[in-house]
Amino acid sequence: MTDTTATLQLGDRSVELPVKAGSIGPSVVDISKLYGQTGMFTFDPGFTSTASTESKITYIDGDAGILLYRGYPIDELAEYGDFLETCYVLLNGQLPTAAQKAEFDYRVSRHTMVHEQMSRFFNGFRRDAHPMAVMVACVGALAAFYHDSIDISDPRQREIASVRMIAKMPTLAAMAYKYSIGQPFMYPKNDLGYSANFLRMCFGVPCEDFRVNPVMARALDRIFVLHADHEQNASTSTVRLAGSSGANPFACIAAGIACLWGPAHGGANEAALKMLGEIGKVENIPKYIARAKDKNDSFRLMGFGHRVYKNYDPRAKIMQKTAHEVLNQLGITDDPLLDVAMELERIALNDDYFIEKKLYPNIDFYSGITLKAMGFPIDMFTVLFAVARTVGWIAQWKEMIDDPGQRIGRPRQLYTGSVEREYKALRDR
Ligand code: SDX
Repeated sequence: MTDTTATLQLGDRSVELPVKAGSIGPSVVDISKLYGQTGMFTFDPGFTSTASTESKITYIDGDAGILLYRGYPIDELAEYGDFLETCYVLLNGQLPTAAQKAEFDYRVSRHTMVHEQMSRFFNGFRRDAHPMAVMVACVGALAAFYHDSIDISDPRQREIASVRMIAKMPTLAAMAYKYSIGQPFMYPKNDLGYSANFLRMCFGVPCEDFRVNPVMARALDRIFVLHADHEQNASTSTVRLAGSSGANPFACIAAGIACLWGPAHGGANEAALKMLGEIGKVENIPKYIARAKDKNDSFRLMGFGHRVYKNYDPRAKIMQKTAHEVLNQLGITDDPLLDVAMELERIALNDDYFIEKKLYPNIDFYSGITLKAMGFPIDMFTVLFAVARTVGWIAQWKEMIDDPGQRIGRPRQLYTGSVEREYKALRDR
C-alpha cells in the first residue's frame, strides 16, 4: 500500500496531507492533523466522502456491485457455505477448517439459552409492542445478567460475549415473536442447525414435534449470510461509536439494533412490504412511481436506492432468487405482492429518473416477500435483519477494540448559531 501526499491550498498557505492507499478501493486523504495544522475542520454530513476507520472485514464496490467478506465473494459464501461459517470468516478472517467449523458450531450451540429470569422481562411489555423495541431492551439487559463478559479490556471476556451474542440473538428474537402471539417460549434444540433451530423456536409448539422444512432452513440461512455485515453502514458505525467510549458489548449491540430499526436502514424491509401492500396491484404502480419522483412528495420507493450501490446490490439478486425458491417450495404461485414487486422493478429500472439517480433494488426489496412467505409477521423482518447483522457488528466492534490507535469517536461541527450575547432578566424581556 503505497502512500503519497495531497496539497491543500488555503489562501496563501498550502498544507501537505498524507494519502493512504488500501489493498483495493479508494485511497484516503488523512486529515487527522488538519485541525492542528489549519484550525479548520472538514465538513461531510452523512459521511458521503469520509472513511471513519481502517478495516479488513468487508469490502464493497458500489459501481461494480461487489461485496466481499474478508475477500470472499458474497454469492460464493451464500451458495456454498452456511451462516455460522460466515460468522467464523467475519470474526477470524479466513474460512475455517472442518475441525475449526465443528468446534465453532459446538461453542455457539452451547450458548443458545438465555438466563431463565430474562423470560420475566417479557411480561413487562405489551403483547402488541414492536419486537424491535423488545430486542433493544432485552439485548441491552444481557449486561445485567452476564457480568463475566462485560470487561472489554479482557480478550477472553470479549470472546465469550461475542459467542453469546451470536448464539442468543435467535433465542431472544424467537421469544419476542412468541410473546407477541401469546404462545409459550420454545427452548433452543442444540442438535439443530442455527437457522433450523430458529425456525423451530418461532414456529414450533410444546404440544407436538416440529419438522423443520430443509428448504426454508437453507433459505433463511442464506438470508442471514446476505445480511451479516456491510462495511461502515449506519448501525455498524453506531456500534463502533458506542464501543469507542468503552461501553460493554451488549450495550453496543443494543445501540446498533436501535439504529437498524429506522426505515431508511434495516427497517426498509418492513417498509418495502408495506409499500407493496399499499400499491396493491400492478395497475397502481405508475401512480407510486410518479410520487417517488415528485420533489414535493416525501414518498420514496422503499427497497430502492443505496448510499454505496449505484449499479446493483449483489445481495438483491440472490434475495430475488431465494424469494422464488421459497415461493415455489410453498406452492405460492400467485402472490400479488411478488407480481407488484417484479413489475415495479421492471418499470423502475427502465425509468429515466431511477436510472439517472442510480436507484436499484437493494437487499430489502425482496427480503420482505420471502420472510412473509415463510410465515414471519411484517414487524419481525427487521428483527431477523438484526439477528444476522449481530456478527457483523461484533466483528467490527472487536476490530475497533483491537486497534491500538483506537480513541473515543468525537466529531466536531460547523457552528452557525448565535454568537455570545448578554442574558436578559425576565422582567426586561
Ligand atoms: C440498508 O448502508 C448500508 O450498507 C445499508 C444496508 C446494510 O446492509 O447495512 O445496505 C441496508 O439500509 C439498505 C437501504 C434500505 N433503505 C431503503 O430502501 C429506503 C429507501 N432508500 C432511500 O431512503 C435512500 O436510497 C437511502 C437512504 C438508501 C440512500 O440515501 P442517500 O444515499 O443519502 O441518497 P439520497 O437520499 O440523498 O438520495 C439521492 C437522490 C435524492 O434525490 P435528489 O435530492 O438528489 O433530487 O435519490 C433520491 C433522493 O430523493 N432517492 C429516491 C430514493 N432513494 C433516493 N427517490 C425515490 N425513491 C427512493 N427509494
